[in-house]
Amino acid sequence: MNVAFIIPHSSFIIFQMDAFLTAVQVEYIFEDGPLHVLTDISLSVPAGAFVALVGPSGVGKSTLLRLIAGLLRPSAGQISIANHPAHQSPNPVGLVFQRDNLMPWRTVTENVRLPLELQGKNDPSARRRVQKMIDLVGLAGFEQNYPAQLSGGMAQRVALARALVHEPPLLLLDEPFGALDALTRERMGQELLRIWQAMPVTVFMVTHSISEAVLLADEVLVMGGDPGNGRPAAITHRIPIHLPRPRQFQMQSAAEFQRHAAAIRAAIQQ
Ligand SMILES: Nc1ncnc2c1ncn2[C@@H]1O[C@H](COP(=O)(O)OP(=O)(O)O)[C@@H](O)[C@H]1O
Ligand SMILES: [Mg+2]
Repeated sequence: MNVAFIIPHSSFIIFQMDAFLTAVQVEYIFEDGPLHVLTDISLSVPAGAFVALVGPSGVGKSTLLRLIAGLLRPSAGQISIANHPAHQSPNPVGLVFQRDNLMPWRTVTENVRLPLELQGKNDPSARRRVQKMIDLVGLAGFEQNYPAQLSGGMAQRVALARALVHEPPLLLLDEPFGALDALTRERMGQELLRIWQAMPVTVFMVTHSISEAVLLADEVLVMGGDPGNGRPAAITHRIPIHLPRPRQFQMQSAAEFQRHAAAIRAAIQQ
């Protein structure tokens, strides 16, 4: 007798030996409703990779990010960071959202210092780290400024410095440059690449900009579905970006760049 096994497409992935962030057949249901948002989400992200997640508004991208951050727990399946369940991970995670969420009554230095203060660290080496991060994001000279005295791009730099000051191995970004004007956004993308290359950090970024995803990422994940209408979202496509590094803006006009962008656009529209 022949027995056929049918393996769902997205469950059938090869786990790399050095996978740092993994998701295995994750489901998520908001119980109030209830609303089945995510289904059969499987991922394998190697340490040090830069992954971008794109998809229509309301599909479930932020929900997946919150699951990876350990702020929500999967309804079924597992998410692991360095072999620990995400919600019990001993490793800190750096988080940056679309709005900078800075404390308006604290200076740049005091905002960046916050995660270290929460860990009870305020020794000279902690203070040196704060200054190093401020320098790395290009804000030397603005240490004593308050958030109200900063432009939107500068405030997001502070948010990045704050997210990275405690050296998290994983940086989660949820449309971090979505509220910035186009030019500032492009500059911030380049800055993020520079910072990522200077630190041993794995980046998982939600963005609605296809060109930003192609410019920054090693791999772009496309999420599709319509949870509001009874179709929970899944990762429908994984598109590796075969562009050399370091990446430059000028690459955006190259045929290879355009080809990647077109493939992502087509995947989103399916
Ligand atoms: N706390 C919540 N309770 C119930 N439903 C929610 C909650 N947060 C988000 N949703 C719903 O889950 C779906 C996915 O939301 P979200 O992850 O924010 O999408 P995206 O980030 O892709 O725009 C949407 O239909 C949204 O309305
Ligand atoms: Mg969102």
